Amino acid sequence: MNSDTATLIDIIAGARPNFMKIAPIIRALEASARAGGHLRYRLIHTGQHYDPRMSGDFFTQLGIPAPDVNLEVGSGTQAEQTAAIMVRYEKLLLDSPSRLCLVVGDVTSTMACAIAAQKLHVPVAHVEAGIRSGDWGMPEEINRMVTDAITNWFFTTSEQAGENLRRSGVDPQRIFFVGNTMIDTLNANLDRLRPPPFWEELGLSPGRYFVVTLHRPSNVDAAASFEALMRAIGQGTRGLPVVFPVHPRTAKTLQADPGLPSTIHFVEPQPYLEFNYLARHAKAVITDSGGITEETTVMGVPCMTLRDSTERPETVTVGSNELLGTDPAALGPALDRLFAGNWKKGSIPEKWDGRTGERIVAALEELFPA
Ligand code: UD1
Repeated sequence: MNSDTATLIDIIAGARPNFMKIAPIIRALEASARAGGHLRYRLIHTGQHYDPRMSGDFFTQLGIPAPDVNLEVGSGTQAEQTAAIMVRYEKLLLDSPSRLCLVVGDVTSTMACAIAAQKLHVPVAHVEAGIRSGDWGMPEEINRMVTDAITNWFFTTSEQAGENLRRSGVDPQRIFFVGNTMIDTLNANLDRLRPPPFWEELGLSPGRYFVVTLHRPSNVDAAASFEALMRAIGQGTRGLPVVFPVHPRTAKTLQADPGLPSTIHFVEPQPYLEFNYLARHAKAVITDSGGITEETTVMGVPCMTLRDSTERPETVTVGSNELLGTDPAALGPALDRLFAGNWKKGSIPEKWDGRTGERIVAALEELFPA
């Protein structure tokens, strides 16, 4: 196929939770091209996350090809990052247009590229469209709403997400319930998961430790509330080791905050295979992430979410996740129930079956016929 007849799709990735979502789409696009399909892609890394621990390690472990373009925007405020990504992506599109901008998830890069593309009349496809927490205090919720307001084709992880979109007036024909690409990546890598180097040193054994991740501004930016959460976790986990891979944002609070419970081990952000090994074998995971609640649901690991709302309700109604809120006092009773063996089992949501990347590419082939 020559470049005149190929259809070029931009795949946008910017921050850690994007990388596991694009990997299966790229794999499916490559398979389609090998089978004679006309879709081609250009991988664009915005540079929102740039540390090897937050970015490069994921490309290597998940076999994602090196980006074709890196916009290298780096850190900044919400508006600074949004602006820098828009300016640089707009320039790229003006110099070298594509036929579709495919964005995933809800990070700043997702929204910024969608806006830049749509204003240049490049249509937008959004993977993980339609999910809503209802909490406008989270930048991700704003990113979701803005992106979905200007998206042409919506790829959803749940019936609920489709319902949210239909209620907001989206034409049902533009909504494709395809499942969850993050779970494609998890299923493809379950056999490759491996313990981190500190596994022995910390005396970890399956079912005899906890994993904690916290990075939401509401939980980690104020030292006093972060410390109160740490104390409640230290007490409620009854002397078992707690592994806490520390996000750069959380590290800033930690620096100023010595004297936390000694059973909590603060470690570097973990690469994909090591993190999910830790999560899979943990007694429970305590988190304020959204994606992790999906992974623990599929692995059947008890999960406690320290947030008041979730955009992923199926992890609670179907899966192993429970919303505890952000009051440290909620942790003790929840951990007591866990130790008493009274945590729900949960099951796997519909279409979280490892084939979502293929479904997305099949839909794109229909939307963009040769
Ligand atoms: C972003 C996403 C969030 C996602 C999270 C996962 C948005 C609005 N939020 O939040 O949805 O759950 O990523 O990690 O897009 N930093 C580094 N190295 C890096 C990247 C960031 O040190 O590679 C520092 C930045 O300087 C900044 C802080 O970490 O101080 C936060 O980074 P930022 O990308 O602004 O947002 P996250 O909190 O990571």
